[in-house]
Amino acid sequence: MNIILLGPPGAGKGTQASRLEKERGMVQLSTGDMLRAAVAAGTEVGKKAKTVMDAGDLVSDEIVTGILSERLDQPDVEQGFILDGYPRTDAQARSLEELLASKGMKLDYVIELVVDEEALVDRITGRFSCAKCGEGYHDRYKLPKIDMICDRCGAEDQFKRRPDDVEETVRNRLCEYRAKTAPILPFYEAKGIVRRVDGMAPIVHVNADIETILDRR
Ligand code: AP5
Repeated sequence: MNIILLGPPGAGKGTQASRLEKERGMVQLSTGDMLRAAVAAGTEVGKKAKTVMDAGDLVSDEIVTGILSERLDQPDVEQGFILDGYPRTDAQARSLEELLASKGMKLDYVIELVVDEEALVDRITGRFSCAKCGEGYHDRYKLPKIDMICDRCGAEDQFKRRPDDVEETVRNRLCEYRAKTAPILPFYEAKGIVRRVDGMAPIVHVNADIETILDRR
């Protein structure tokens, strides 16, 4: 099964994608993670993307579709994938159609996480993660059980925050979502594959709602 998780920054796309990856063996395809890896590796793509990402703007369709296309050529995507953060523009939605058709794949669902935008600023500005294993935390909602130690891998004082998780940038990311990403929903609604879940519910409930949709198929 191949799905898109759609929702504004902080809606919980990454959180839910990583749960589905663990529980169902699906592969999480996060264009944000791919771009951050390119920035960390100092590649040409990474150099071009860094300033754009730090400002909370969208990286060019050409760059993002290029990295996604390469990723879709890896054999593990045959287990089923979760697109997290792609497509984000009308042009990306159309490119995805062409890409999937050319690789003999199809989309089963677009699951929209419906959220209250004001709560998202709080969610994003408070989050941090373990630099070693990627486990996510939050200043108020999910602190490590032992101060400074990662619950999952035991790394000590290895926590990091994303440079684009500051309030002004988060607000710009939300504007970008409203202006460029939300308008792609009708394209998928016309195909009858959009399903909605309440993204303001506790993480486990959101997860259960998504599982119900996937199990119904
Ligand atoms: P990207 O990495 O995709 O970031 P994003 O879309 O802004 O989404 P986030 O990762 O911030 O949020 P999320 O929805 O995954 O929420 P999360 O699960 O972490 O993109 C970053 C940048 O890269 C973009 O701004 C752009 O520049 C570029 N980019 C990427 N893809 C691109 C593309 N296709 N085209 C162009 N540019 C692109 O949750 C957030 C927090 O909330 C966590 O602390 C979590 O624990 C908590 N939380 C989650 N769910 C719940 C819940 N139900 N209740 C309470 N807390 C919750």
